[in-house]
Amino acid sequence: MGKREITRKEFIKKTSKCAGGLICGPIILSVFQSCSKPNPINSANEDTLYISECPCHQAQFDQEGNVIQNPSTGEEINPLTQYSVQEINQSSFIVIDNEQNLIEISFSDHSSLEQVGGVSSTSSNSLDNDGLLLYRKSETEIIALSRSCTHAGCPTGDFESV
Ligand code: FES
Repeated sequence: MGKREITRKEFIKKTSKCAGGLICGPIILSVFQSCSKPNPINSANEDTLYISECPCHQAQFDQEGNVIQNPSTGEEINPLTQYSVQEINQSSFIVIDNEQNLIEISFSDHSSLEQVGGVSSTSSNSLDNDGLLLYRKSETEIIALSRSCTHAGCPTGDFESV
């Protein structure tokens, strides 16, 4: 049998399938990868005591607001906004933002914060529409974080013990 010659039209059809396969392969792969699981950047370690997870795209933050896991959408995000905490005494403490707005928080409403290592939270208040996450780091230090997720602003969940 003689050698079969292909037409120009057939040649283009065959090679375009190959080129399409080569080019589309990585594109299809990247589409699947963008839908994959959340992208951990600072996996929880021995310093991670509590995690707050955002219900919208599963970003996770530790008790000091550090990002433990980026959102499932793949972007890298910033830590939670931290407020200044002052005047910690037997009964209360003050949380202050950059514009010197402040609220006083009473230990009688957040008794878990009387112990070092305790956590609590607030709902929306005059300082932060999404409320606060609170962590008693030491006798003299309380961490107060905005619950507003730095990805797209959903309120993050309460702290859960690791
Ligand atoms: S992870 Fe998307 S808004 Fe929080």
